[in-house]
Amino acid sequence: MQSTRHGGVNMKLINNEYKIQNISLLSLARQYGTPLYIYDAEVISIQVENLTTAFEGLNFKIKYAVKALTNISILKYIKQLGCDVDTVSLEEVHICMKAGFVPEQITYTPNSVSFAEIMQAVQLGVFVNIDNMHILTEWGKKYGNTIPCSIRINPHVMAGGNLKISTGHIDSKFGISIDYTEALLGVVHKYNINVAGIHVHTGSDISDIEVFMKVANKILEVATKFENIKIIDFGGGYKVPYKPDDKYADLAMFGANVKKAISKFGKEYGATPQVWFEPGKYLVSQCGILLVHTNVLKHAPNTTFAGIDSGLNHLIRPMMYGAHHEIVNVSNPTGNPTPVSVVGNICETDTFAWQRSIPEVRQGDYLAILNAGAYGMSMASQYNSRPRPAEVLVYHGEPYLIRKRETLEDILHNQIEVF
Ligand code: LLP
Repeated sequence: MQSTRHGGVNMKLINNEYKIQNISLLSLARQYGTPLYIYDAEVISIQVENLTTAFEGLNFKIKYAVKALTNISILKYIKQLGCDVDTVSLEEVHICMKAGFVPEQITYTPNSVSFAEIMQAVQLGVFVNIDNMHILTEWGKKYGNTIPCSIRINPHVMAGGNLKISTGHIDSKFGISIDYTEALLGVVHKYNINVAGIHVHTGSDISDIEVFMKVANKILEVATKFENIKIIDFGGGYKVPYKPDDKYADLAMFGANVKKAISKFGKEYGATPQVWFEPGKYLVSQCGILLVHTNVLKHAPNTTFAGIDSGLNHLIRPMMYGAHHEIVNVSNPTGNPTPVSVVGNICETDTFAWQRSIPEVRQGDYLAILNAGAYGMSMASQYNSRPRPAEVLVYHGEPYLIRKRETLEDILHNQIEVF
């Protein structure tokens, strides 16, 4: 028996067949068709356990950043595992409520939204992270000290897998600049705003614990200036391995350092806040694969292309961020490693792998694109008027269809014919 090199779902190669929880991927392809997102529930629960172990001894909550993967069955499952949620749109709030989360379990961290939207969030009873001075002032005028809120600070720290997913640097649109703390306090005092939390999210795909701690210390320093802090929300961003030699962020070390920092803060401040973490990728990236079919093999003078039945419309990460996703040849696992460029069927250069050496891809082979659980389906579109894939959750050794494949009717659904 041999496991995948790293990451991905708990895919195992057993007697030449790739399986998830003992279910053959080829049988899932036959049953549900491709392209198909497949998630392994067990991986999610292992990740929750890992986090829980890393943060043991802290008074903490995991607020799953649902934007990573919003399927309602996944949300219900993550709720069963004891997590709360972080949301960024009212629609996400409603989906979470439909999944059974009560408003007290939901935080709301939008950016660039109107105050009307913030008022709706308050009406729904969720806990709001305020991202700019304008909203803070409106909040003060409307609610004064009647409703607790949290403030998102921009810590001026550049970190993240690439610039597009770096959110804590000085030129990022997110949060209120740490340099404006005095002005911020001015507004808070003027309206007697009940600031119960300080929030930060520095970026995604961060492995360096020193970066997390630098940010943590910065916002703890900001927190000392407020009188009623009950929550410190450190956001998410924990790296998971995408490339073979990638490493996880060392969460055990992060947990130990946060414990020290919070206990020191608690002593000096006179009260110890609860600590919140908002992982997205860490919880759901490795649980998911995108299973695809090789429609054509094309030879060009310098390259062999494997043309698959999916594209940037289903998994945009390689094209949008230059992200690396491991690819496994599910139907020829022991083939000779041969360079191939895996490309999509969209009218764009949607390349999943350039000249990558993988077991020889033949026409008709099924490929699994790993680490596709986070920001895969949730960022999928209908570009080129192609339907989005179906989603299957493998739970306790059984596959469950958790989203039907879209159809032409779905694509036309809201269109209005004028002529
Ligand atoms: N909290 C807040 C406020 C966030 O904005 C995010 C992600 C998270 C938590 C979770 O971050 P994570 O643990 O997943 O890194 N589409 C990009 C990632 C965008 C992240 C947006 N914010 C990607 O596929 O790499």
